[in-house]
Amino acid sequence: MQATHSSITLSVTDLIVETLVAPARSDQTGAEVFAPVLPVDLRVTRLAKSFSGTPIFKDVSFGLSRGEAVAIVGANGTGKSTLLRCLMGLIPADAGSIDVLGADVRSASSAGLRAMRAQMGLVSQKHNLVPRLSVLSNVVQGLLGQKPGIRHWSQSFAPATSREVAMTALEKVGLAHLANRRADRLSGGQSQRVAIARALVGQPKILIADEPTASLDPAAGEDVMDLFFDLARQEGVTVIFISHNIDHALHYGDRVLGLADGGMPLDARAESLSAAELRGLYD
Ligand SMILES: Nc1ncnc2c1ncn2[C@@H]1O[C@H](COP(=O)(O)OP(=O)(O)OP(=O)(O)O)[C@@H](O)[C@H]1O
Ligand SMILES: [Mg+2]
Repeated sequence: MQATHSSITLSVTDLIVETLVAPARSDQTGAEVFAPVLPVDLRVTRLAKSFSGTPIFKDVSFGLSRGEAVAIVGANGTGKSTLLRCLMGLIPADAGSIDVLGADVRSASSAGLRAMRAQMGLVSQKHNLVPRLSVLSNVVQGLLGQKPGIRHWSQSFAPATSREVAMTALEKVGLAHLANRRADRLSGGQSQRVAIARALVGQPKILIADEPTASLDPAAGEDVMDLFFDLARQEGVTVIFISHNIDHALHYGDRVLGLADGGMPLDARAESLSAAELRGLYD
């Protein structure tokens, strides 16, 4: 096909603009089909945090779209857990902005922060279950963010609907048969599964996991990660997880963020990274 005059005179800028506004693809009839624009669940801009004058990180910026899974990696003490705590508004940042599910975390009121956290589920390194309570009561407590008050401290006070959704969450993690067992009678892998049920029971939009498999043996750790991501993908939940396991970061993350040297020098799609490149972050 012969090029027309107008196509020859397209500038580089025109080409870039065309690429940005071009439809993602055409359907069988040739009609233009636009890729859906996913909501941005979280945006961090130029975030800085120090403790007693000691800088931990600065100039950290990234965004997360709905349904995306991002792994945060980095050596001990680089500020991974601190970053998550800033995102949840549990500790104040020094500079920058944090937008989570439409809430401006740094200026939100305590009621605003509670409403935001009610849409987030957290699984931490140690499951943090209440040891003397039953498995079911621990999962019911996952609803406290949305339904604060004594009724959601224990399954025996909880309304039937809450008990039912807690049982459904336990079924999803394969532990419905242990609903009445005390939490301190569970294995490490079972405890993490209950922690996942507790994080999911309120149907969060964002799931946060801080080294969810750190206390597990490799096989149990693999099972927990598979389950966590199966459920997260099924429910279309946005996930942020911290991991020291490079294979986990690459396998389960769509993107990997790396903290080092007081900043975030790495933000890349997992498929474009190798394990060797990630190990370089720990040197
Ligand atoms: N409340 C606090 N007061 C003072 N210093 C703190 C506080 N919390 C964390 N730190 C310090 O901030 C730094 C970052 O800690 P953080 O727990 O975020 O690191 P991390 O990347 O999660 O490490 P790890 O991989 O060991 O979990 C560390 O030097 C830690 O000692
Ligand atoms: Mg940590």
